[in-house]
Amino acid sequence: ILISGRGSNMVALVEAARLETYPAEIVGVISNKPNAAGLEKAQALNIPTAVIDHTDYSDRETFEQDLHEKLLALEAELVCCAGFMRVLTPWFVSRWENRLINIHPSLLPKYKGLQTHQRAIDAGDKETGCSVHWVTEDLDAGAVILQESVQIAPHDTAELLAARLLPIELSLYPEALEIVASKLRSPQ
Ligand code: GAR
Repeated sequence: ILISGRGSNMVALVEAARLETYPAEIVGVISNKPNAAGLEKAQALNIPTAVIDHTDYSDRETFEQDLHEKLLALEAELVCCAGFMRVLTPWFVSRWENRLINIHPSLLPKYKGLQTHQRAIDAGDKETGCSVHWVTEDLDAGAVILQESVQIAPHDTAELLAARLLPIELSLYPEALEIVASKLRSPQ
């Protein structure tokens, strides 16, 4: 699981994966930010953690090479971005093709990128939501695996929507990972 911050989706995945019947095991949590709150949460759950600080690298490719090596060392077969706020290059994405998923706080294909709830409010949308999707070369453009919506009320703010959406994310992501992991074949 790749994180950059709070790690609530990461905790939900770890907790789901503890169930004996769940088809995935969480082998590690990697953060690109040394002060991500999710790191302590993962440690408290006895999940190995690593920091690969992108500011230590002069370009995305060398950062991603170390990230890739760390994932191989962990024997990861599937990578879940969970609030991981780095854009991944085609180099990395191609190495993890069909093994790389993300949760995004919008009803994709609407509102790729940042400020998703504010953009939905500004557009006068009646609903927003979250999507778990495959990561491809184009940002937030891969096929949706699962998505769920919430209504936007007249006086909603981006903060209120994010808070209302969070528990939905926390059940949607484990459900999506379950679907993906149960179909995953072992690496060649
Ligand atoms: C989540 O709301 C997730 O959808 C969003 O960041 C938050 C991470 O929270 N992801 C993105 O915006 C990706 N572009 P968490 O660290 O508590 O799981």
